[in-house]
Amino acid sequence: MGTVVEAANKGVNGSITEKNPTVVFVLGGPGSGKGTQCANIVEHFGYTHLSAGDLLRAEIKSGSENGTMIQNMIKEGKIVPSEVTIKLLQRAMQESGNDKFLIDGFPRNEENRAAFENVTGIEPAFVLFFDCPEEEMERRLLSRNQGREDDNIETIRKRFNVFLESSLPVINYYDGKAKVRKIDAARPVQDIFETVKAIFAPKNEKAD
Ligand code: ADP
Ligand code: C5P
Ligand code: MG
Repeated sequence: MGTVVEAANKGVNGSITEKNPTVVFVLGGPGSGKGTQCANIVEHFGYTHLSAGDLLRAEIKSGSENGTMIQNMIKEGKIVPSEVTIKLLQRAMQESGNDKFLIDGFPRNEENRAAFENVTGIEPAFVLFFDCPEEEMERRLLSRNQGREDDNIETIRKRFNVFLESSLPVINYYDGKAKVRKIDAARPVQDIFETVKAIFAPKNEKAD
């Protein structure tokens, strides 16, 4: 009925929620390979990939009024208020024209999860959980080389703590609803994708 969020959610084609989109949440610790595997899923299964972290970094670059706040939170490995991230996700979903989304790196905490459900009414079809030991994630992050301000050992440690304290409970929540598809992410990229494919393929007739 006329809340700001609902108004923002309305585009020329109505709200994204009216399309009853398929949403898969892609979770896992920092450096577990979420973005890498999402790129493969997009290619094979026609999903649109929305990384919450990428959307937040783009918002900083765009010179938005929230830019400085977001930048400071990312530097500290903290989770940006849900309102900000959900608006960015809704806008990206609306603009994509697609009705199948991989939402990567979200929900990161209970607040993210509950707010997304309340605002959009969308429940994920399932949750991919890339399970990877910290030592391996740390190695990957330290050699990622994308110029990210949070890929330094000090921030990485903070991000690992936030993952354990705030993000794992979200995964446990969905596990309680039998929605988690846990994947051993400490393997070569292609091996992991074989496992991922088997999860998506039966649900998608267009799969190769
Ligand atoms: P996330 O999005 O979960 O933070 P990325 O997909 O960005 O993780 O991967 C982090 C880094 O690790 C990147 O440099 C990527 O190329 C590399 N990487 C991703 N998957 C693997 C893998 N299975 N084995 C080794 N390196 C990987
Ligand atoms: O997923 P990614 O590693 O790109 O996220 C980078 C940072 O973006 C996180 O450490 C966090 O500071 C911020 N973020 C957030 N809320 C999300 C996803 C990412 O605040 N849902
Ligand atoms: Mg990523």
